[in-house]
Amino acid sequence: MSNLTPREIVSELDRYIIGQQAAKRIVAIAMRNRWRRQQIDPELRDEIAPKNIILMGPTGVGKTEVARRLANLTGCPFYKVEATKFTEVGYVGRDVESMIRDLMEIGVNMVRKEESERVRLKAEKAAEDRLLDLLLPGSREPKNQKSPGFFMSGQKEETPPPAPKTDEGTREKFRKMWRNGQLDEKEVELEVSSQADPAVSIMAIPGMEDMGMQMQDALGRFFPNKKKHRKMKVKDAYEVLIQEESEKLIDMDKVVELARERVEQTGILFIDELDKVAARQDQGGGTDVSREGVQRDLLPVVEGCVVNTKYGMVKTDHILFIAAGAFHYAKPSDLIPELQGRFPLREELQPLAKDEFYRILTEPKNALTVQYKALLETEGISLDFTREALEEMAATAEKINEETENIGARRLYTIMEKLLSELSFEAPDKAGTKVLVDRDYVREQLAEVVEDRDLSRYIL
Ligand SMILES: Nc1ncnc2c1ncn2[C@@H]1O[C@H](COP(=O)(O)OP(=O)(O)OP(=O)(O)O)[C@@H](O)[C@H]1O
Ligand SMILES: [Mg+2]
Repeated sequence: MSNLTPREIVSELDRYIIGQQAAKRIVAIAMRNRWRRQQIDPELRDEIAPKNIILMGPTGVGKTEVARRLANLTGCPFYKVEATKFTEVGYVGRDVESMIRDLMEIGVNMVRKEESERVRLKAEKAAEDRLLDLLLPGSREPKNQKSPGFFMSGQKEETPPPAPKTDEGTREKFRKMWRNGQLDEKEVELEVSSQADPAVSIMAIPGMEDMGMQMQDALGRFFPNKKKHRKMKVKDAYEVLIQEESEKLIDMDKVVELARERVEQTGILFIDELDKVAARQDQGGGTDVSREGVQRDLLPVVEGCVVNTKYGMVKTDHILFIAAGAFHYAKPSDLIPELQGRFPLREELQPLAKDEFYRILTEPKNALTVQYKALLETEGISLDFTREALEEMAATAEKINEETENIGARRLYTIMEKLLSELSFEAPDKAGTKVLVDRDYVREQLAEVVEDRDLSRYIL
């Protein structure tokens, strides 16, 4: 578990997300509390439940981004799901518990990946040997060549060891060539297992994916993997072989055990659009029974229950839930009271204006300007922006957000795309040039759409 302090977490988040300090602090505290909990006596530890969080704020201001980056930097299994995707138990659709199954799936993949990195060297070595077996059948050095019994026969001088079946030297020569990349493009035939898929037709029924998955798992045992011969390039075959060898080296039971531990203790479930399942009081009941049903189904999962997954039972007691939503119309108080109580921490994210936009364009490690520079660099174009150009773009984003829909920082994407669309199209013809985007360029490219509000509604 990561032992970053709240201050460190916030400063890591600062590298990607501009502003929203309150939200950053609140998630940082939640993470630190988990670490604190781990240090406590087991008896008391189990009593301490995570304090779940609701992040409120308009679209495109960083709600998802905060949660996602948090999970990334702390290495917690993280799964994001929309509350609107669920239907009440008993109706056709995904039930709420499926999110725990999905989170567990992510946890298992995460641990499996770590394990396969751990055995990577061994797997590479084994894969290389198998590859050479394929290229030179029968060339592998016989295992018991130097059996000690041989020399005890008392006839040392007369019987030299039998020559290896095939030329050991050739094998080593091939090994060298392979390592130098000289065999990459050669073709070999490889036996690969193809997943028998008897559950396909079940999977296709909407809302029954979970059941399909479980059925497939069960049926997989009756229909063992079929083997198929496939021709492929040596370098691709190598990857397949590594995969197979590392699967042999990994103990899946251990992986599942570790994954369960990690999911139960450090998992983060991000439930987006929570406001969409909140029914406003003045709307009356009627059509909203099922939304309320979803809220009710959420109660036990959030509070702590045991969910049956294909990897066994998973306890949800200490999974951290972060919910998000615009909460424009519905308020957290429109959620059923039991659910409100299970999300004791609320934080509002601030709408973004041109100053933030300017910083979002320039400061984050993965800032849009950095992305586009890298994209155009592949065409041999060196792209740069003047300070005024960036200010102009930020101001335009703010203006259009005000005049049409406020879509937050996502507006910068549309503006950037529009701004560079001509250049993007012509880029291959302009290799070797330098392009400096200045204020005039921005105005020129965006003028038409900025001035015409109807047009900007459609284009930006
Ligand atoms: N404060 C911010 N700093 C840097 N980038 C931001 C910020 N807010 C949003 N972005 C960028 O805008 C995009 C959308 O942000 P995000 O997905 O977090 O929106 P959201 O608040 O979850 O909106 P929605 O309610 O529509 O889900 C992200 O790709 C992110 O990089
Ligand atoms: Mg979001």
